[in-house]
Amino acid sequence: MIVIMGASGATGGATLRSLAALGAPSRALGRDPARLAASLDERTLARTSVLPVEASDPASLRTAFRGARRLLLTMANGPQQVQYELNAIEAAVDCGVEHVVKVSAPAAEPNSPVGVSRGHHLIEERLRSSGITTTVLRPYAFMQKLLLLAPGIAAAGVVHGALGQARCNYVDARDIGDAAAEVLTRPEPAGGAVPLTGGRAYSYPELTALLGELLGRPVRYLDLSPSELHAHLVDRAGMPHWLATHVVEIQQLATVREETPDDAFRRLTGRAPRTLEAFLAENLHRFR
Ligand SMILES: NC(=O)c1ccc[n+]([C@@H]2O[C@H](COP(=O)([O-])OP(=O)(O)OC[C@H]3O[C@@H](n4cnc5c(N)ncnc54)[C@H](OP(=O)(O)O)[C@@H]3O)[C@@H](O)[C@H]2O)c1
Repeated sequence: MIVIMGASGATGGATLRSLAALGAPSRALGRDPARLAASLDERTLARTSVLPVEASDPASLRTAFRGARRLLLTMANGPQQVQYELNAIEAAVDCGVEHVVKVSAPAAEPNSPVGVSRGHHLIEERLRSSGITTTVLRPYAFMQKLLLLAPGIAAAGVVHGALGQARCNYVDARDIGDAAAEVLTRPEPAGGAVPLTGGRAYSYPELTALLGELLGRPVRYLDLSPSELHAHLVDRAGMPHWLATHVVEIQQLATVREETPDDAFRRLTGRAPRTLEAFLAENLHRFR
């Protein structure tokens, strides 16, 4: 049995749908099973059993993982993320899970300048010492998160950031789901780390030019200092402080570590990743 922790989320949900498309049954976990089941399309629901889980409660994790051989571990960022994922790993060890696919991030290192990535490093370390075969997926920024820019573009034709001319390796979350499903359904689980990027990296000036072209009106990029961006995200966009700090940290990282596309996705799945142009065209109504 394949169990999906974080099944209502961007990557967990995409993995569930990809598994269903492959005809593979899975068990989806969420804090609100009724809401989770209601969010699934018919084909996915037909292949999925939905169970409750609360990551702060080890007993609920052990119940949810009973009989599982493979686990997708992908959880929301937040102050409790590391503890929740460590709880899940302890339950996976107790339940005899044989293979964990962990959705991590780039720069998951002990001294990473990105706090969330330092947390991912701690989780990966625990997986390494657990004896469970582990595949770490390292996606870059999700294209889906660009939809957060849509209200500012629709209202004022402006994007705020602190990226300068730096490029980002945007990846479609549906490709992360396809990659995870591919790894989870292999007859022999393989460990290792898989960077996940799109086929081309884009700077904000390139992104706004592309959006302007698609929308038929100019979209401006306003380059701010890191502290100005932080204040903008908290005061104007209403982001919690920790999340604004995370956004600023990942933008700062992209300015000092060049992001270039990797062909690991193509090697894993045998096809090219989804493109940013196609994603924006599909979601253009959101930016109008
Ligand atoms: N966003 C990016 O651009 C990006 C880039 C690189 C890496 N990543 C990494 O990707 C990972 C996954 O991101 P995502 O966007 O797929 O996650 P997400 O959609 O924000 O959340 C995943 C799930 O976590 C579950 N969750 C939260 N608290 C829980 C709890 N107490 N008990 C049980 N479940 C709980 C939620 O399920 P319920 O609400 O249904 O319980 C939620 O659906 C993150 O760890 C992030 O660091 C993200």
